[in-house]
Amino acid sequence: MPDSKNLNVLNHPLIQQKLTYLRDKRTDSAGFRDLLNELSALMVYEITRQLPTRKISVQTPLEDSSGNILANPVILVPILRAGLAMCDGILHLIPQARVGHLGLYRDEKTLQAISYYKKFPNDMSHSDIFIIDPMLATGGSAVSAIDKVKTAGGKRIYFVCLVAAPEGVAKINNQYGDIPIYTAALDRELNEKSYILPGLGDAGDRIYGTV
Ligand code: PRP
Ligand code: URA
Repeated sequence: MPDSKNLNVLNHPLIQQKLTYLRDKRTDSAGFRDLLNELSALMVYEITRQLPTRKISVQTPLEDSSGNILANPVILVPILRAGLAMCDGILHLIPQARVGHLGLYRDEKTLQAISYYKKFPNDMSHSDIFIIDPMLATGGSAVSAIDKVKTAGGKRIYFVCLVAAPEGVAKINNQYGDIPIYTAALDRELNEKSYILPGLGDAGDRIYGTV
């Protein structure tokens, strides 16, 4: 599945169809939120294929047997605001996952990621950690999030987004070459305001109707 260094584009037809509807400027906030949750679940279903499992015993109504479960606990780290809207879809599939919230916003002039909130679960070191945010543009927010998760002891970290710009992918690869990036699309470029082209606009504003 890897397409270039640590970049994985999920080409499942349902993922691509839902992303296309999400890009459509006529999709309203309610539709956008629904699609985002469905897409997030489909993406995590694909990504978790490679997670290790461990065997446990189970008693069926008829006899003792065994089955497999995820070997490690899962932690989701949504980057607020937009990443939060991806959580429910993933929690539907992995209800036992814990969630660490990270508030970051991009300063409009400097494009620096400004941190305003952080609340992580205890003991990040033994979990598979999914940092989630629909948009990977300059990569400033993603790298700031990875810094914070690593500082908190996170080791097995995956970055999950819907739309990635080449600039953001390069920034993660340069600073954290060990972190796999999963996206539904690798778009063309950033515009002069560092919005992704063709992209889907401002994800937070479209989710929460704040335009
Ligand atoms: C958006 C998006 C990412 C960030 C990506 O958030 O959800 O977090 O921009 O841009 P970058 O790769 O250049 O850092 P935004 O800063 O608009 O905050 P919001 O979700 O609160 O609207
Ligand atoms: N943040 C967004 O929400 N959209 C972009 O295209 C870039 C950053």
